[in-house]
Amino acid sequence: MAGPTAPQEPVKTQQKCIAIFALFSCLAVLVALICSSMDFWWDDEDGITEENCSRNCRVALVENIPDDLSLPGHDRPRLALSVGFHTLLERAKHSVEVVSPVWDLETTPSAAKQGQLLFQQLLSLKSRGIKLKIASSLTNSAELKTLTAHGAEVHFINMTAIARGGLHSSFMIVDRKHIYMGSAHMDWRSLSKRKELGLVVYNCSCLALDLHRVFSFYWQLHDRDYIPSIWSKRVTALYGRHDPLELQFNATHATAYVSTSPELFCPKDRTRDIDAIYQVVQSAKAFIFISVTDYLPLVNRSFRGTSVTRYWSPLDEVIREAVVLRRVRVCLLISLWKKTNPLTFNFVTSLKSLCMHLRNCSLEVKFFTHREQKDDLQLGLNHNKYMVTDNAVYIGNHDWVGTDFAFNAGVGLVVQVKNSPVNREVTILDHVRAAFERDWTSRHAKSLQGGKDQQGKYRGWQQEESHKKENEWKSPLSL
Ligand SMILES: *[C@@H]1O[C@H](CO)[C@@H](O)[C@H](O)[C@H]1NC(C)=O
Ligand SMILES: *[C@@H]1O[C@H](CO)[C@@H](O)[C@H](O)[C@H]1NC(C)=O
Ligand SMILES: *[C@@H]1O[C@H](CO)[C@@H](O)[C@H](O)[C@H]1NC(C)=O
Ligand SMILES: *[C@@H]1O[C@H](CO)[C@@H](O)[C@H](O)[C@H]1NC(C)=O
Ligand SMILES: *[C@@H]1O[C@H](CO)[C@@H](O)[C@H](O)[C@H]1NC(C)=O
Ligand SMILES: *[C@@H]1O[C@H](CO)[C@@H](O)[C@H](O)[C@H]1NC(C)=O
Repeated sequence: MAGPTAPQEPVKTQQKCIAIFALFSCLAVLVALICSSMDFWWDDEDGITEENCSRNCRVALVENIPDDLSLPGHDRPRLALSVGFHTLLERAKHSVEVVSPVWDLETTPSAAKQGQLLFQQLLSLKSRGIKLKIASSLTNSAELKTLTAHGAEVHFINMTAIARGGLHSSFMIVDRKHIYMGSAHMDWRSLSKRKELGLVVYNCSCLALDLHRVFSFYWQLHDRDYIPSIWSKRVTALYGRHDPLELQFNATHATAYVSTSPELFCPKDRTRDIDAIYQVVQSAKAFIFISVTDYLPLVNRSFRGTSVTRYWSPLDEVIREAVVLRRVRVCLLISLWKKTNPLTFNFVTSLKSLCMHLRNCSLEVKFFTHREQKDDLQLGLNHNKYMVTDNAVYIGNHDWVGTDFAFNAGVGLVVQVKNSPVNREVTILDHVRAAFERDWTSRHAKSLQGGKDQQGKYRGWQQEESHKKENEWKSPLSL
């Protein structure tokens, strides 16, 4: 009797062992997975929480306008971008966090002086006891190496592996209190030769806290080749389209939130850039002014070596709706440069034809031109990426090109102003709108007339009779 059972005993224990071992292995893998995705690097948020952060903020419009671009003199920027960066870094006491697609501050051209000054200021942070953290997708940047040698901590994001796109995000957070968001890069061109627009927000730890979560998200992508499926709470959004932050911008009561793209980069509750744009366009009642380098409703994706291009409708759609169904006036300012895709003209012509035979329908498109230089196409380029309406402003990192939103990383900021018709003070919207109108009525902005010639080049640029147009249209905000 013992004979047949005896050999079974060790088999049973062996099976038990295997089962227990398998269970443990599973647990271990699970724990490892959770740990790796949550990252037990708890970065303290300087003791500031959503409950006691500051909502009493100051905001300033910062611009860079190249010297050789003649825009009406009385509307020179209120605050030069280089001064904006300088004051931000001067205020720093503990930490500076920077994301930029490009690091090219310290080149030799004589026009690069502002860039060199900014670079020196970044290098000197360590001697002031300030931590500099940089998230970047550049693998071989000499400037990042120099900064690392001077105490900066740099985290590499492999955008190719993670999203098959690029890192277009550009922002700065100082002491989790002050922020910069806008079109400028850590590039000497942004500080001298290229036209840029952004916002600097001071004393605004609530907004900085939320933008810092975007930074933490990038920070945790260090050396990964995938997006974890479980995220630490420290990267989920604090505010969004449905529950924006209520704050004071100078004397103005406003709401704000940060949006990101691509969708893969939107952890729980984070609003996508494209939804932020939707919301801003849909809430416009009188006008929408858009200034971007490129407008192209196409997505380009290479798949197994071949490139597939598809129509990408979201932005085109929402503009059409606003113009035709809600009779909102839309002005679209695009840059005309060597890299303008010829199909842009077709899409723009199609948009313009919408208003045919419709009363009170207005959609205008103008192209911002500059004298191109052969050696550097970007000199003089209008690199702005924003939209301003009668009640909101959206400042982003992307041009309105489908591929950008689908694959590239970027951030946006939505500011919506609560109108108080009684005591109407000058708001940030008025400043952004004034910047747009200055560009729109300048001699660099030309509307497209006539057709293409054989070379595919457009001719028949004609100066708009802007004064006549201006008088026809009564701004709801003009007092
Ligand atoms: C904010 O609240 C946190 C936790 O409740 C606390 O530790 C911190 O000291 C507070 N910070 C300020 C500036 O009041
Ligand atoms: C980024 O990921 C791609 C694809 O996985 C890989 O080929 C490349 O070597 C990675 N780059 C770096 C610098 O790790
Ligand atoms: C920010 O707050 C500090 C302290 O409350 C104040 O001294 C400073 O002037 C404020 N900065 C701005 C730009 O309002
Ligand atoms: C798509 O990508 C291919 C290859 O990179 C390029 O030749 C083509 O012009 C692109 N098309 C658009 C619409 O961007
Ligand atoms: C156009 O605007 C005028 C004046 O604002 C208004 O009286 C008229 O009803 C509008 N027409 C249409 C078709 O919306
Ligand atoms: C808000 O206040 C700051 C600092 O006082 C000033 O530089 C800025 O121009 C003001 N912004 C607006 C929109 O008035």
